[in-house]
Parts: sequence; structure tokens; C-alpha cells
Amino acid sequence: MSRLVKNLDLIVHKLLNGEVVGIPTETVYGLAADATNDAAVEKIFTIKNRPLTHPLIMHIAPDWDLSKWVETIPEYALYLIKNFWPGPMTLVFKLKTKTNISKLATGNQGTIAIRCPNHPVALSILNKLGRPLVAPSANPFGKVSPTEVLHIIQDFPDLSFAIIDGGRCDVGIESTIISCINPQYATILRPGIIEESVISKFCNLKDVDIKNKIRVSGNLKSHYQPHTPLIYFKTEEASACFESTENAYVIGFTKLIAKNLVNYCFPTCSKQAAREFYWQLRKADKANKNLILIELPPNKPEWLALIERIKKAGKPFYNPAML
Ligand code: TXA
Ligand code: MG
Repeated sequence: MSRLVKNLDLIVHKLLNGEVVGIPTETVYGLAADATNDAAVEKIFTIKNRPLTHPLIMHIAPDWDLSKWVETIPEYALYLIKNFWPGPMTLVFKLKTKTNISKLATGNQGTIAIRCPNHPVALSILNKLGRPLVAPSANPFGKVSPTEVLHIIQDFPDLSFAIIDGGRCDVGIESTIISCINPQYATILRPGIIEESVISKFCNLKDVDIKNKIRVSGNLKSHYQPHTPLIYFKTEEASACFESTENAYVIGFTKLIAKNLVNYCFPTCSKQAAREFYWQLRKADKANKNLILIELPPNKPEWLALIERIKKAGKPFYNPAML
């Protein structure tokens, strides 16, 4: 496939030339461009059909000097960096007034989201490039994130940007986003596999109203959506849900398996389930069914990130008998 490029130097050359490139990260694949090149960054918004007001995450290599871009780094953020980078954690800081980063990348919000991905291919590209990359998930805006190269090719069949294969993504859902704007406390803006109880060992966490003022995917009512309509249900609603629907692809947990109604059963470990989630959702979307039904995971902290993705991807089961 001509779009698949193996040579890292060629990828770096394309990025330096202002081209957009599909790259692997440990979370999901990203659509990357040189963060300092306005025209390159604009191409990302066009390809994804993403609103210009929706800022991008900047990706850097370990040990790069953040003071080039960031006004102040609270002490707790230094602990987060030390313990979680490289890894699936994005930190939002106050942006310096004068930087070399494209204003399009930050959506003119005066803040910048930064992450250091833990994937050898992404890190080699960053180290060779020597400058930051912006990279949203490599899917059309609002749709399911890609966790392998084939997903990008399927989502953008007519586009010719290069893609580099880094295998299937280990984490499988997007990074945890944490606001480090306040010097005293951090705020989780988007849940991920690094969960609240772990983060709170390194800083004070406060759930404040800034979530509503910042444009984060997690704040949109719908996101991560397959083409097939998706309905989610609680375990106790399963029978009513199956009775009132037809020709559905069912993704669930162990309890429903006995009834032989489940097309795919999530692993019981939340991290393994996260790794499978988008991959299975895409498989369900291709199964020529009228509907995708997903059983909600247990209402426990370690499942929060997946529950959030499922709820944004569909609508709750509406049980007429409960009226
Ligand atoms: O795991 C990830 O984070 C993946 C991989 C490719 O790195 N990237 C990703 O990008 O999920 P995207 O664009 O699909 O989601 C980035 C989210 C958006 O919801 C955006 O609003 C938020 O990050 N964001 C970006 N800059 C921000 C900022 N300055 N303040 C608050 N949120 C920001
Ligand atoms: Mg995305």
C-alpha cells in the first residue's frame, strides 16, 4: 500500500515539508503535523473536518524544555511529568504570550495541552524532527479513534497522506487530560487509563467548573461515534433491551454470555477492556447490523474512562415499560 511508509527519515522529511502524517502512539493513532507550521496545522483541521475552535495536543519527546512554551509549571505538575511521562497523560498549562507554536494549534485559548507519548516510533520521529508535533486522533471529527493503521486507511480512503505502522495501540483509548493551570490543584478534564486515585497520590485534585469553559472532547455531548446507531444499557435492563430490539450486535460482560446473546465479551480487567474498546466498536460497525448494543461496565472508578466513551458514543436504552 503506497500510503504506508516504513522509512522514518522520509516521514520526518514530509513533516518538515509541512505535510500531515498518520503516526502511532501508545493510546490511539494520531494525525501529526509540525506544531510550528500554520499551514501544516490547518491541513489537520481540514482533513478531520474539525472545528477550528477545538485545540490540539502538542507532542514532545522526554526531557524537552517546556519553558519555551509554558508560562509556569506548578510543582505538582513536575511530579506528574516525572512519574507519568512518557505515557498516556496530557497536561494543560498556561501558554507563554510569545512562542513558535501555531495559534491554530491552541485554538487561541491562552493554554496549551502537552503530552509525551510512550511509543518508540512516535519518540524516534520527535527526536529526529527536533520540534513538537500536534496530533489529534486520526479519525474524522466526532468518530471512533483508530487503534491500528487499517482504521486510518478505511476512514480516509481518498486521501493520500503518509502513514507509518507501529502495530496495534497498547492503551487503546485517548490520554487522560489534566489541567495544571491552577498552582494549588489539578483538574481532570478527560478520564483515561491513568485514573483519579493514582493521580491524586501526586497532587491535589479539584473538580471545578473550568471543565465547562474549556473545549475538550469529553465535554461534547456526542463523540467517538460509530456509523451504526449505538444504545447502551445497564445489566438489569438487558432482557427488556433485547426484547425491544432486533438485528443488534451485542457487546457485553460475562453475565450475559450464558444467554448466548453476546457477540463480543469485554475482558474483566478495565485496562484490557480499554485496549479492545475502539477496535471492537469498529468491528461491530462493520457487521451490517441495525444497532450496536453495549452493556455498561460496573460503576467503579477504574471503568470511568470507558463508561465516558460509551456514553458519548451512543444513547441510553429507553425502556417503555418503565414509563
Ligand atoms: O491520546 C491522545 O491524547 C491522542 C493521541 C493521538 O495523542 N490524541 C487525542 O487528540 O486524543 P484529540 O484531538 O482527539 O483530543 C484532544 C483533546 C480535545 O478534546 C481538545 O479539546 C483537548 O484535547 N485540548 C487540546 N488543547 C487543549 C487545551 N489547551 N485545553 C484544554 N483541552 C485541550
Ligand atoms: Mg479525538
